[in-house]
Amino acid sequence: AYTQKADSVLNLMTLEEKIGQTVLFTSGWDVTGPSMDDNYKEYLKKGSLGAVFNAFTTKYNRELQEIAVEDTRLGIPLLFGYDVIHGHRTIFPIPLGESASWDLELMEKTARVAAIEASAEGINWTFAPMVDVARDARWGRIAEGAGEDTYLGSLIAGARVKGFQGDDLSANNTILACAKHYAAYGAAMAGRDYNTVDMSENELRTTYLPPFKAALDAGVATFMNSFNDLNGVPATGNEFLLRDILKGEWAFNGFVVTDYTSLNEMVPHGYAKDEKQAGEIAMNAGVDMDMQGGIYMKYLKKSIEEGKVSEADLDDAVRRILEMKFRLGLFDDPYRYLDEKREKEDILNDEHLEIARDAARKSMVLLKNKNKVLPLSPDRKVALIGPLVKDEKNIIGNWAAAGDRGGTAVSVFEGFEERVGKGNFLYAEGCKLTGDDISGFAEAVATAKKADVVVMVVGELEGMTGEAASRTDINIPGKQKALIEAVKNTGKPVVLVLMNGRPLTLEWENNTVDAILEAWWPGTMGGHAVTDVLYGDYNPSGKLTVSFPRTVGQLPLFYNHKNTGRPVNPGDPDQKYVSRYLNTPNTPLFPFGYGLSYTDFSYEVAVDKERITPADTLTVTAKVTNTGNRDGEEVVQLYLHDKVASITPPVKQLKGFEKVFIRKGETATVKFELSAEDLKFYGPDLEWKYEPGEFELFVAGNSDMPFTHSFELVAE
Ligand code: IFM
Repeated sequence: AYTQKADSVLNLMTLEEKIGQTVLFTSGWDVTGPSMDDNYKEYLKKGSLGAVFNAFTTKYNRELQEIAVEDTRLGIPLLFGYDVIHGHRTIFPIPLGESASWDLELMEKTARVAAIEASAEGINWTFAPMVDVARDARWGRIAEGAGEDTYLGSLIAGARVKGFQGDDLSANNTILACAKHYAAYGAAMAGRDYNTVDMSENELRTTYLPPFKAALDAGVATFMNSFNDLNGVPATGNEFLLRDILKGEWAFNGFVVTDYTSLNEMVPHGYAKDEKQAGEIAMNAGVDMDMQGGIYMKYLKKSIEEGKVSEADLDDAVRRILEMKFRLGLFDDPYRYLDEKREKEDILNDEHLEIARDAARKSMVLLKNKNKVLPLSPDRKVALIGPLVKDEKNIIGNWAAAGDRGGTAVSVFEGFEERVGKGNFLYAEGCKLTGDDISGFAEAVATAKKADVVVMVVGELEGMTGEAASRTDINIPGKQKALIEAVKNTGKPVVLVLMNGRPLTLEWENNTVDAILEAWWPGTMGGHAVTDVLYGDYNPSGKLTVSFPRTVGQLPLFYNHKNTGRPVNPGDPDQKYVSRYLNTPNTPLFPFGYGLSYTDFSYEVAVDKERITPADTLTVTAKVTNTGNRDGEEVVQLYLHDKVASITPPVKQLKGFEKVFIRKGETATVKFELSAEDLKFYGPDLEWKYEPGEFELFVAGNSDMPFTHSFELVAE
């Protein structure tokens, strides 16, 4: 029905008007590359613009929509896009942090709230979720995704799409989602942003494509190209990715947008001789909308006249875009996302703030807790030290859309004021996040000496992660490490609260301090959430979705690597001529799936069969007992290893998980059902298949545990 509706409009359009629908320009705010053309209002009046991004507030978007609807010949309404990545005004933890909650319902809910707030300010399309699998912490964009695992990342991709789009795209509080960046952007060589990717099709399909497919299966409306070239072809001109896989094999019926000027960038890539040719390559490859590049607008008409692009391909692109405008209900009411009442009521309201607080504390990962220094006892005097204690700017993290950097966000200092009362704790800044100034050290040390326990809030500048924020050194920057050392030398117990957007190298810190709480960039309610966890008002339950390396030299690092032909013998770690480094173990400092609680859990696991056929199901039962003296949540994880296969298998793979709340002293039973479907992989001929043979598995609270059970898959 939507296709027919789109066709009814398409049939009325001139060539110029059709091209206009494929053009997207920024309204001028938040540009992340060259501003190609500032005349978007002029184009809009001429009907040469189908969508605008970075414009929000009902007043401004109404002004633009009125031009589109009233001043152009066909009155086709505009789409309004924006990077609503982890909240719109109410900011949730950065996506990498939130993924550490392993709570799909929660992630769907925060995306839902983001859509409600964004749509209340005129936005109907978000450039999220980012579903790139990322295994290299040098890459700043690792902050925006769901970590290193394809299985978990796929589930999270689906949850986020459902959250943004809801059940009904025509509701005025749901928005189009965008699966980005298609594809393999997370594998940018050496973690350097925009860099080359070269990989086998098997690896592409095994590791990098499934989250995109999961987003598609959840109904995602749009896809965004990635900046990288893949096996020598820029993703924006990649017919194999776009026409063969996305629009062919997967039958995607939404539209594809470039990432900013990725279309123009085919020229410096050395793939197109000029912009006109770049436009032809992109349209022929299946790119429907040109974000900010201005190339379709400038050259597409000529390319069609010259026969270099077919009008049928343009029609297909326009049809896809118009369909989405119909799905949003914009042809029924172009102003449906411009409701001043909703703008007042639906933003930063108490319900959203409470969800933000919950999401933030569920995302935090307790990495170390020596002598149970945490939770803090209320009768101990705390000194808060560090450059992020009073911070309200960095705390909302990178790519925080319309989030307020100062004013709305709750700092850790404010969280303490509410929890323990003004004046009942001590404070010193110590140093800045970056730079060499150590003049605040003396005051910090003197403050620490007056306390029973020191909580240091340290980390990265928010701009150190996100786009164009790759680092070759992933230490805590500036003089913060020296500050930690100076404070620790007082002999007081030291708790580190980390705020950062990527795994950091923390070997020294882990050997030095008493406790480490990874708080990520926790968002608007971050200060309250940190306090909730530090005082045990919330028992931490987050588990890492990325491995934390010991040193940057180990990167890329991920738990589901291959074994190699010369694996390290754990009984002989110094053995020569095996696959290892001379100076660092291969293992991470903190593995995927790891995170402590204030209570303890024990596992008793059983499998119901030793052998299954492809028609059977294996039931794995884990009895998980809370053996400590607090209620708590545990993420129960099942890992599997295919011992021999026709493609070398990973040493282990996450195959299932469940987050369960268990009261102290009680036992929860978690059941996993495995069938031959779960044992499938891409074989040498890219066939998706299982092979008979032996498998081993374990169920535990993190990925670094021994296999405990095995079974065999036998042919029928
Ligand atoms: O959505 C983003 C993308 O992730 C990176 N480049 C700019 C786009 C629009 O802001």
